[in-house]
Amino acid sequence: MTDTATAFPASPAPRISTGIPGLDDILCGGLTPSRLYLLEGTPGTGKTTLALQFLREGAARGEATLYVTLSETGQELRSSAATHGWSLDGIEVYELVNEMGLDPDSEQSILHPSEIELGETVREVIARVEALKPERVVFDSLSELRLLAQNPLRYRRQILALKQFFAKRACTVLMLDDRTSETGDLQLHSIAHGVISLEQRLRDFGSERRRLRIIKMRGIKYRGGDHDFSLETGGIRVFPRLVAAEHHTPFDAKARSTGTGGSTCCSAAGWCPAPTPCCSARPGSARRPPPSAAC
Ligand SMILES: Nc1ncnc2c1ncn2[C@@H]1O[C@H](COP(=O)(O)OP(=O)(O)O)[C@@H](O)[C@H]1O
Ligand SMILES: [Mg+2]
Repeated sequence: MTDTATAFPASPAPRISTGIPGLDDILCGGLTPSRLYLLEGTPGTGKTTLALQFLREGAARGEATLYVTLSETGQELRSSAATHGWSLDGIEVYELVNEMGLDPDSEQSILHPSEIELGETVREVIARVEALKPERVVFDSLSELRLLAQNPLRYRRQILALKQFFAKRACTVLMLDDRTSETGDLQLHSIAHGVISLEQRLRDFGSERRRLRIIKMRGIKYRGGDHDFSLETGGIRVFPRLVAAEHHTPFDAKARSTGTGGSTCCSAAGWCPAPTPCCSARPGSARRPPPSAAC
């Protein structure tokens, strides 16, 4: 069994580009529109960068796009985008940090019961989406929402409320998660239509290694496993894992002459075209087949 694009041709269902060609390739065409996705990874793995590329792609196509930020200020977001040479023109940045008085100096976050505050947060997002009618939304990040909720049940209820709200709209949503919950949030995985995971690993030498993996993607075939990616000035570049079966070229299974007149591997006609147990040997040793070997 293979997990290749050729074995599973892309379905005719519409797809939208993520803005990252390598990721579109892994998804065999892109994301299914009007669904809610989870993008997870520890801090520094590239979630914000990927999310910005996703929105920039939408903005370039003339779509209304919305970036809801609870983790960074709009100013921080704009200046980190500028380090990649990007402007956020065409992307509406909605800074919930200030709107909800969640900054450390505010008394509101201390005095308000968390249920009210969480409810307000979700209501604010909904009001903004209703006003702007965006086709792409990024929510950065769920970790703050989890903090506000304080207990898993309330948190899940709010996420479900958001999901149901977005489901009625032609809106593709990326929810970013820092994976700061101790147990790993499997509830979120079940709510989301698809889950993309980013990871960075330190090595003994050289730079860190970054990997992307599709954990789940309902209704479409994708290239499974780990895919390398780099985070450079200019954004994320994903390098889809090579799948040998996709690069198969037919060959002629005829024996080839060695040109040495008689010294052959395992047939009177010449060498076997492909490596076989009888043709292999340690480097430097005579490659002589055992008497009973057959190709
Ligand atoms: N202009 C840039 N050029 C190259 N790498 C960058 C640039 N800006 C950020 N990075 C890299 O991206 C990382 C942060 O990416 P980010 O998308 O903010 O991650 P996350 O949102 O998951 O915390 C930084 O740790 C740095 O390695
Ligand atoms: Mg971030």
